Amino acid sequence: MTKALDDIKIIDFTHVQAGPACTQMLAWFGADVIKVERPGSGDVTRSQLRDIPDVDALYFTQLNGNKRSLTLDTKTAAGKEVLEKLIKVSDVMVENFGPGALDRMGFTWERILELNPKMILASVKGFSDGHHYEDLKVYENVAQCAGGAASTTGFWDGPPTVSAAALGDSNTGMHLAIGILTALRQRDKTGKGQKVACSMQDAVINLCRVKLRDQLRLDRLGYLEEYPQYPHGTFTDVVPRGGNAGGGGQPGWVLKCKGWETDPNAYIYFTIQGHAWGPICDAIGKPEWKTDPLYMTPKARQPHITEIFATIEDWLKDKTKFEAVDILRKFDIPCAPVHSMKEIANDPSLRASGTIVEVDHKARGKYLTVGSPIKFSDMKVEVKPSPLLGEHTDEVLAELGYNSDNIATLHALKAV
Ligand code: COA
Repeated sequence: MTKALDDIKIIDFTHVQAGPACTQMLAWFGADVIKVERPGSGDVTRSQLRDIPDVDALYFTQLNGNKRSLTLDTKTAAGKEVLEKLIKVSDVMVENFGPGALDRMGFTWERILELNPKMILASVKGFSDGHHYEDLKVYENVAQCAGGAASTTGFWDGPPTVSAAALGDSNTGMHLAIGILTALRQRDKTGKGQKVACSMQDAVINLCRVKLRDQLRLDRLGYLEEYPQYPHGTFTDVVPRGGNAGGGGQPGWVLKCKGWETDPNAYIYFTIQGHAWGPICDAIGKPEWKTDPLYMTPKARQPHITEIFATIEDWLKDKTKFEAVDILRKFDIPCAPVHSMKEIANDPSLRASGTIVEVDHKARGKYLTVGSPIKFSDMKVEVKPSPLLGEHTDEVLAELGYNSDNIATLHALKAV
């Protein structure tokens, strides 16, 4: 079966998470992604947080499926020559080195364009070009703090908190993938390549736009009625941390279920969507609240929302999170169990949909990974294992026109 991107060749000059997440997705969709790695060591995540000695860590395997690995020392003359050849025959080069690293290597945008005017050069950096922090190196949590996410996450009586979701890393990679596909589409029309950049700070800000909405509302009103601080607490002039509040137009909270005393995830998220108020009252055995003026409207409920959630929690105390959701779903109430990663790993629906998949790695054997979250009706995404370091070096060199003697010389020079 043909894949959408099977005529696209990508030089994957990425490491850690932000860049690899982007190129892995493009590889799932059919692109020939050649991961260029330093001989001997490769991507640092191959050896970070290893669970099996001398075997590529899960950090690496989870982010580099469906790729080929070419080892290349791009600081040697012979290595540079290989990269030049590769640039000439590729469509896209993706990199997420520290600021200026590609230029220092001799591959400025001008040089890349000279080699291939149709090249799309896609970069992740911590901050955008020209930003007063543009020289900084950045990792996930740094980006979450710089992008406004941390100041608005957590509880009001605790410090700024980072999310477990990779808002700075994988999220930026996904933004970059959209940029690359857009640049490819534009190249179809103009015949020209271009630079595509996405900073981690910008990608986080893009996901925090509702918090900017709240800042503007706070500036005008002095309060935010959907936050737990309203109406009994106080607001300053910045968007506060709202704990597990709904954040949109519907109040919501994480509520304890049966077993919460020993199971850290025996909770559900419960949303009081306005039009579901009647069904909620029926579901929790409080039909009288439907016509009680103290509870009938969202505005009337807001001052005692904590007490309402406490009542729902009392109803939940003899139900597991799964039993509770099974009851509430019949009433069309937006809710979900708080899933542990163990439950995610074993969820039959996620296995069936291909969101959680098992693949077979040459050294590690079978391992679980997250497959494509995007499903297509006319393209099957096959998730394949990550490559061993340099597994495809000779194969790629041969495709670039090197004969076996030349390849042996490159090995002897330690350029590959
Ligand atoms: N051959 C030879 N040299 C190579 C090479 C190869 N195949 N691949 C990388 N290098 C060199 C680079 O040229 C660079 O050399 P230089 O600094 O002497 O010019 C060096 O390796 C490492 O570069 P750098 O990316 O700065 O690595 P680092 O480990 O110091 O920093 C990050 C790591 C992630 C903090 C940094 O890359 C960064 O800020 N990236 C942008 C934002 C980002 O993506 N963050 C991570 C998100 S998961």
